[in-house]
Amino acid sequence: MVRMHHTLPMVVATVQLLPALWITVSCARILGITTLPFFSHQIVYQPIWKELSLRGHQVTLVTTHPMKDNGLTNITEIDIGEIILSVLGEASLSQDTAKDGSHYSILRKLFENHYIIADAVFSDRRFIEVYNSSYVRFDVVVAESNISPIMYAVAAKFKVPLVGVYSFGVWMGLNHAIGNPHPLSLYPEIWSGSDGRMKFFERIRNTLYYIWTRYYLNFEALPKCDQIARKYLGNDIPYIQDIEKNMSLLLLTTNPILYEPRPNVPTVISMEQMHIKPVKPLPKDLKQFLDNAKEGVVYFSLGSNVKSINIPEKLRKVLIEAFAELPYKVLWKFEADDLPGKPENVLIGKWIPQQDVLAHPNVKVFVTQCGLQSVEEAVARGVPMVGMPFIADQTRNIQRLSEEGAAVGLEHTTLTKEEFKNAIFEVVNNPKYKQNVKRLGEIWVDHPLPSLNRTIWWIEYVIRHKGTKHLRSPTADVSWFEYLLIDVILVLLTIVSLALFILYVAIKFILRMIFGGRKLKQN
Ligand SMILES: *[C@@H]1O[C@H](CO)[C@@H](O)[C@H](O)[C@H]1NC(C)=O
Ligand SMILES: *[C@@H]1O[C@H](CO)[C@@H](O)[C@H](O)[C@H]1NC(C)=O
Ligand SMILES: *[C@@H]1O[C@H](CO)[C@@H](O)[C@H](O)[C@H]1NC(C)=O
Ligand SMILES: *[C@@H]1O[C@H](CO)[C@@H](O)[C@H](O)[C@H]1NC(C)=O
Repeated sequence: MVRMHHTLPMVVATVQLLPALWITVSCARILGITTLPFFSHQIVYQPIWKELSLRGHQVTLVTTHPMKDNGLTNITEIDIGEIILSVLGEASLSQDTAKDGSHYSILRKLFENHYIIADAVFSDRRFIEVYNSSYVRFDVVVAESNISPIMYAVAAKFKVPLVGVYSFGVWMGLNHAIGNPHPLSLYPEIWSGSDGRMKFFERIRNTLYYIWTRYYLNFEALPKCDQIARKYLGNDIPYIQDIEKNMSLLLLTTNPILYEPRPNVPTVISMEQMHIKPVKPLPKDLKQFLDNAKEGVVYFSLGSNVKSINIPEKLRKVLIEAFAELPYKVLWKFEADDLPGKPENVLIGKWIPQQDVLAHPNVKVFVTQCGLQSVEEAVARGVPMVGMPFIADQTRNIQRLSEEGAAVGLEHTTLTKEEFKNAIFEVVNNPKYKQNVKRLGEIWVDHPLPSLNRTIWWIEYVIRHKGTKHLRSPTADVSWFEYLLIDVILVLLTIVSLALFILYVAIKFILRMIFGGRKLKQN
């Protein structure tokens, strides 16, 4: 059971004086902070906030995409979406992870963006009233683990456990902070666009990148994050890296299909297909279009971050010409009213209820940028894919899906009409793609508890036990020197060298005794 905190300091004092009296209502105060201005990331977290509030917890949420659901009475949303877009400019963050950028510049740019975001969010008057008030109390802070640890400092300010949540896998820095083993021989950095076994030079690259990351974090990024956190939260907080290492729980949207299985400390929990909802009826015009398309439908969308309105003219031309020659209908998520040269068989829509469209039996293939949430939706609905990756993890997602025989991958920069058409025909006509995508879907959701239940259970576990100190892996606390046994290896090497040296001297001495003596005699 969780102790209830009221906003009045007097009541808090009374409750805290009587720790034995557990109030039977399971009602905690939860502060959620998510600052990545992407819809596709935020829809993953929304079920968590909703479910926590429905279970009677009081949720205060700082978010870029509020749910604005009047039915949820236990949730207060502070919308920071506009503020972040105004300081950052639209699409900035996603372009920064474009796959042709170097890993070094990507990381630097991401951190720089997060400094700007943190300044804007901490300066928001409504948020100041939350974090700088002397009477507001929380039981846990759930913060988005988007590279930068700045927002974690809010948990330290309130002296409550920190839960990290991220709609992505872990990057090297966070693996290091939470004490996850991260053998550089096996796991490439998440930005590197590759996955699976690395060749020799890739391992060299991975190792150099890791060393640089340690340097960059310790001497540049973390001091800067610490400085920003202190500017707003005051000096009475531990160093930012210690706050990050103290994370009680890390919830990630990893899965055994797209991510190489890896060793995790016990506080890393995966969530899958969090945003997948039961199928809803389609709007009338869309339903009619799909119902009438007995020959099959190609659904095309590049998601909410890439946007097909932004693609190069050359690629758009290839797509339009290929679609015109297909014997199928095409539904295209296009973010403008008009698509010049739109073929007869193509229907465009600015906003499309993707999950429900993918559930329609006439949809034969999903042409996608392979963002994680889109892939999850396709897998949940059993629709095979043609993937053309643009940014971030999309390259490795399509690589994995192709290996599993659930998709065909294309390179959009060199794409030709014939190539594109052939990929679509292959996926529509070869039944193996559909079978494989269904097989993956069955593996993906097979757990003792549904993903949302598991997630909520873990957050409440952290609240009940005031953190997870008892699950803390020692890897988070030892120095790299100890962890890699450098001290042990050095001592052992010294002993062995010493022994060899003594042996050498002894042999030399004995030999001199024997032969030296003989020489003397001969002389
Ligand atoms: C709000 O929380 C209370 C308990 O604090 C609970 O009884 C109620 O059902 C919740 N209401 C909604 C709409 O979530
Ligand atoms: C927080 O409150 C203190 C006084 O209680 C004030 O001096 C400080 O400026 C406030 N910080 C912010 C960011 O408003
Ligand atoms: C999962 O959570 C929902 C909502 O709280 C609940 O109705 C359902 O019974 C739970 N399922 C399991 C298997 O515990
Ligand atoms: C670590 O977390 C616990 C709660 O889980 C908190 O009480 C403590 O102050 C934190 N320590 C640091 C260094 O952040």
